[in-house]
Amino acid sequence: QENNFQAIISHAKEYGFVFPSSEIYDGLSAVYDYGPYGSELKKNIRDYWWKSMTQLQDNIVGIDAAIFMHPTTWKASGHVDSFSDPLIDNKDSKKRYRVDHLIEQHADKLEAAGKKEEAGKLLADMDALLGEENFTGLKELIDTNKISCTVSNTCNWSDIRQFNLMFDTQLGAVSDESSTIYLRPETAQGIFVNFLNVQKTARMKIPFGIAQTGKAFRNEIVARQFIFRMREFEQMEMQFFCRPGTELEWYEQWKQKRLEWHQSLGIAPEKFRYHDHVKLAHYANAAVDIEYEFPIGFKEVEGIHSRTDYDLSRHQEFSGKKQTYFDPEINKHYIPYVVETSIGLDRAFLMVLSNAYTEEKLQKEDGTEDSRVVLKFAPKIAPVKLAILPLTKKDGLPEIAKDILDECRGSFKCFYEEKDAIGKRYRRQDAIGTPFCVTIDHQTKEDNTVTLRHRDSMQQERILISELKERILNEL
Ligand code: GAP
Repeated sequence: QENNFQAIISHAKEYGFVFPSSEIYDGLSAVYDYGPYGSELKKNIRDYWWKSMTQLQDNIVGIDAAIFMHPTTWKASGHVDSFSDPLIDNKDSKKRYRVDHLIEQHADKLEAAGKKEEAGKLLADMDALLGEENFTGLKELIDTNKISCTVSNTCNWSDIRQFNLMFDTQLGAVSDESSTIYLRPETAQGIFVNFLNVQKTARMKIPFGIAQTGKAFRNEIVARQFIFRMREFEQMEMQFFCRPGTELEWYEQWKQKRLEWHQSLGIAPEKFRYHDHVKLAHYANAAVDIEYEFPIGFKEVEGIHSRTDYDLSRHQEFSGKKQTYFDPEINKHYIPYVVETSIGLDRAFLMVLSNAYTEEKLQKEDGTEDSRVVLKFAPKIAPVKLAILPLTKKDGLPEIAKDILDECRGSFKCFYEEKDAIGKRYRRQDAIGTPFCVTIDHQTKEDNTVTLRHRDSMQQERILISELKERILNEL
């Protein structure tokens, strides 16, 4: 499984999906760039989310808020005080660890050694102490269990400290404390502070939602799982504003709807599971993760949170501006409750890529063995939809192929290639996940038909050029 993960990472690099950031300088930890096919795939997932949320719903509208926000935003939201991880340093190796990860690792070791009960107790103790923010207790837990780090195998630990995950910078030329601003650690707050602007200008009636996609930044401590945990990443979030007391119904609805969305990406239902939060974030009264089974195990892709009226109430308190809504149906003013759906775009990308990645053994016509790597993306999100391949560079075949390209490129992403043997060209399209290839050969000149090849089955059929575009559009 772990090998498979490494193979996916290599494939993503080799075929222009994901590159380490500033690689010529040896990269930047937990920061990545998307290449030609990666940026297409990412955009297609984002567009698909956006369409599902806004276009296919009557009561959700979008916004695009700035990354920089007034610094008081983050006091009100609780991020200045609570958005932190407890850390511990190994005094010998000078390496820094997240306390919960260190303890979880130890529990994994115990479990592997058949000490399941001991592992369970350790994790339960940890959860309780984390919940109370009892750092002395956590330190004792680490000491009494003789938890060592894998690198140096020593347990000479420092005290535990809190480390805020927000990046800060200075606004304007003067650098003093009052000019310190943060790079947003979630996009949600841009929605909350615009709640009334949106409600009034788009004439929204509760219940309604506001959707947004955009970059978020977190100074993550443990960041070594490719694009699973990044320091700069993208979120797709939706805040659904509803009448107080109805939030848990909406929470159940969104939990269900979001799972259906994931499955509509062509991923098998058994690859998903819900994980209910026991220890709730400072703003939530219910929370669940949708987890996908990555090659490195089941991990969170999306969170659905019932955030109560916490955020709007806090913004009302800190700004002094009323954040209430007048509900004409019940003739009452109130601060709405909020159900949030929050998915990481990069994580959705990794999910889609992991799910698509397939190594296949094949038999050649002469009976010898062959193999291919194919990315089985759902056609609607594939980076390239149609590859247009003239069999040879002469005899007028490229001219016909270019006419097809001109006819189709306005409707979906096409790729044109006339070099190399046809088999080699098919393999390259398999490797970037192109669902359809069309080949123009000498027969085309006689009867205006082309060969349409299907990526997954590798089956070929002859169809009329005049029917090609409609056919592909139907498949998308
Ligand atoms: N507004 C709520 C919120 O931000 P979260 O659970 O902290 O909740 C939501 O994040 C989603 O954002 C996660 O489910 C994950 O997909 C993505 N995400 C969070 N941190 C990330 C990181 N460091 N790298 C990539 N994606 C991340």
